[in-house]
Amino acid sequence: TAIEKGGYDHFMLKEIFEQPRTIYDCLRGRLDVENGKITMSGIQQYAEQIVNAGRIIIIACGTSWHAGLVAEYVIEELCRIPVEVEYASEFRYRNPIINKGDVIIAISQSGETADTLVAIEKAKEQGAIILGIVNAVGSSIARLSHAGAYTHSGPEIGVASTKAFTGQLAVLNMVALLLAAHKGTIDRDRYLLLCKELTAIPEKAEAILKLDAEIKAIAEKYKDASNALFLGRGYNFPVALEGALKLKEISYIHAEGYPAAEMKHGPIALVDDQLPVVFVATKDSYHEKVVSNIQEIKARKGKVIAIITEGDTVIPGLADDVIVLPAADEIVAPMLSVIPLQLLSYHVGVAKGYDVDKPRNLAKSVTVE
Ligand code: G6P
Repeated sequence: TAIEKGGYDHFMLKEIFEQPRTIYDCLRGRLDVENGKITMSGIQQYAEQIVNAGRIIIIACGTSWHAGLVAEYVIEELCRIPVEVEYASEFRYRNPIINKGDVIIAISQSGETADTLVAIEKAKEQGAIILGIVNAVGSSIARLSHAGAYTHSGPEIGVASTKAFTGQLAVLNMVALLLAAHKGTIDRDRYLLLCKELTAIPEKAEAILKLDAEIKAIAEKYKDASNALFLGRGYNFPVALEGALKLKEISYIHAEGYPAAEMKHGPIALVDDQLPVVFVATKDSYHEKVVSNIQEIKARKGKVIAIITEGDTVIPGLADDVIVLPAADEIVAPMLSVIPLQLLSYHVGVAKGYDVDKPRNLAKSVTVE
């Protein structure tokens, strides 16, 4: 397996570092920036039905569910179609309202997660159109879907999902752009700009990976924390959830992800001079609001680690540690802002001496309910 790990100590690290390539592979052949064209034949076949559907329901578990949450914000913003995001396990056991022609997007790395599979099986029987965003080619969810798009991230071995997540976001961004163009809810300039922003992601991801040593040093500083809080707003709120999930999975440190503004309704009670609070605070339309949330944490002596955008002159003066990312449009930013969080949890897990590729009690693919 040393060879399979391609010189990296763990599959997780290898997969984090593969992201510039896997995101590129996901966009390649689909996104034609020069002509401003997105080609996804499966989705295009259903485009008319999707834009006319009353709503889209996204069904997933775990990290894939977080990708669904980002997609909710992106699709509603760009396509003006109402989106609901459901945990597959909840959706399948309640008596959900599904009408003929409803559109369901199932997101799954493995394509074998039992709860997701059964949930879409039921919905399909009731006449829903099932679109699958799947990594594993030929998997059960891919086969059950009417149409879909593969993420082309390659086999993911590390139990904690990394490159599959950014692949899912890349696909979902293209789906949203394609639908918005089809429906006419996006103007041409914004469309072309977002196409460009997408193409620039692999290079920016590469630049972020160069911060590895810096992130490792931060991980070592906080590795003995017993709790951690991850906060973000808007497109970065699901990234905060994903950061907390990664830390739990790999380092067994209790972590909670929260919308930054919602912390005052609970998690703020945990803040003391021992608590690391990770803010996903890249430059976007929520930035000013996030800055005041950081001030609220600092006023209570919490330790703030902030993921910020280059050129930010405010947060470095407030935070204990900053990780500085290249600028990106807020719609595509989660593909970048998640990378330092993946590295952070990886290094904390390694520093604590855990088997990061096979965390205790977790399975790569949960084929039982
Ligand atoms: C397990 C894995 C997670 C994954 C989740 C959903 O819990 O450990 O990494 O996000 O299942 O899996 P799926 O294959 O459906 O994306």
